[in-house]
Amino acid sequence: MILMKHALPHAFAIALTASLVASFAGGNAHVQNDAPRASQSTAAAAIYVRRCASCHGKDGTANTFKGKLRSARNLTDPRWQADVSVERIFNSITNGRGKMPGYGKKLSEVEINSLVPYVRGLKK
Ligand code: HEC
Repeated sequence: MILMKHALPHAFAIALTASLVASFAGGNAHVQNDAPRASQSTAAAAIYVRRCASCHGKDGTANTFKGKLRSARNLTDPRWQADVSVERIFNSITNGRGKMPGYGKKLSEVEINSLVPYVRGLKK
């Protein structure tokens, strides 16, 4: 949680600065609407690095010592990505699957929801 405590306010500060700059630069509503989404994916990246990368690797290939030991899923695999639904990704993160622990007690639903598109984005 140390990482989160520092990473979150920082992400919000960046988002805030971005929307302030946008409004001073003539009020581009599109940029302002993107700011919260950008800060959410920054938060998801921080959670992923802290909670998931030890097995799945920063790049999602699971080419790590712990990942190989447990045969963690290669999250970049386009065939797996094509077969798996967002519901199943959400459920696997929440309840665990095989040798993967569940995160339903460690992470909020909002945090797990933010990890689903992050996992999708790892596709090669
Ligand atoms: C201790 C190692 C470990 C950690 C930490 C870990 N995983 Fe996994 N993960 C696994 C293993 C092993 C599998 C393969 C499970 C199976 O299909 O038998 C897996 C599978 C998955 C899958 C595929 C599930 C499916 O339904 O096919 C997703 C998505 C996933 N992990 C996401 C995450 C996310 C997000 C995190 C962090 C919140 C995380 N994992 C943390 C080991 C880990």
